[in-house]
Amino acid sequence: MELKPTVHQLKQIALQMENKSAEEVLRWAMDTYGLRIALASSFGPEDIVLINIMIKIDKKKTRIFTLDTGRLNQETYDLMDTISKKYDIRIEVFFPEHKEIEEMVQAKGMNLMYESVENRKLCCEIRKVHSLKRALNKLDGWITGLRREQFITRAHIKKLEIDAAHGNIVKINPLADWTNEMVWGYIRENNVPYNRLHDIGYVSIGCEPCTRAIEPNEDPRSGRWWWEKGTAKECGLHLDPIRQSNKK
Ligand code: ADX
Ligand code: SF4
Repeated sequence: MELKPTVHQLKQIALQMENKSAEEVLRWAMDTYGLRIALASSFGPEDIVLINIMIKIDKKKTRIFTLDTGRLNQETYDLMDTISKKYDIRIEVFFPEHKEIEEMVQAKGMNLMYESVENRKLCCEIRKVHSLKRALNKLDGWITGLRREQFITRAHIKKLEIDAAHGNIVKINPLADWTNEMVWGYIRENNVPYNRLHDIGYVSIGCEPCTRAIEPNEDPRSGRWWWEKGTAKECGLHLDPIRQSNKK
């Protein structure tokens, strides 16, 4: 493994990475950081593409974690098991702190997310954002399936970013410039197992209470927190590295 690059060096490398393919970006990240970098996976279409590419590059350097909110769809749990068996890999699962969940639901109810945007964000904060902090604590970097065309808040992401929100670790978005067609083309060509909810109109999949199927002409993220109008469809995992905000 090479020496860990400094923040200054990373800024230069980030410029070079913009012209590299997803495989080249991943290869660089895995060679540079080894098991000190991991893929954050919710097993969406982008994440399963990344898993497939990472395994092909080097299975021994493929590290994957997931944040189980406790409210995922059964279909998502089934896919996790399928992926884990197919590639013979261990997936690191992070759960929320039980005390935080207990206090939240006792004070605000099991279905607090529908009551207000504030409640929804609190639920995401406790069930996802706090677990992410814990997962990233021991890492020098993370890899995500973010793409620029997914949402206005993601339009300016880079393939390599310095994640100031998590102590200046590196954040790699190898599929930043991929289209939805490229993602699904890769899945079909490589026979990658995918979440069967996609076959019944689900596009972007998060937690069960907060995700629904959409019509083909609707915005791809409109099935997430579908009852909210005019809010940024983000849960807080991905803060804008420049503005340090996930608001529109
Ligand atoms: S979210 O912030 O709105 O939930 P989205 O579902 O679009 O994000 O996923 C974007 C990327 O965030 C995924 O490709 C993955 O890298 C990461 N991610 C989202 N949810 C999780 C999760 N539950 N566990 C691990 N990583 C996740
Ligand atoms: Fe809670 Fe919904 Fe956010 Fe999942 S997506 S953490 S259930 S508010």
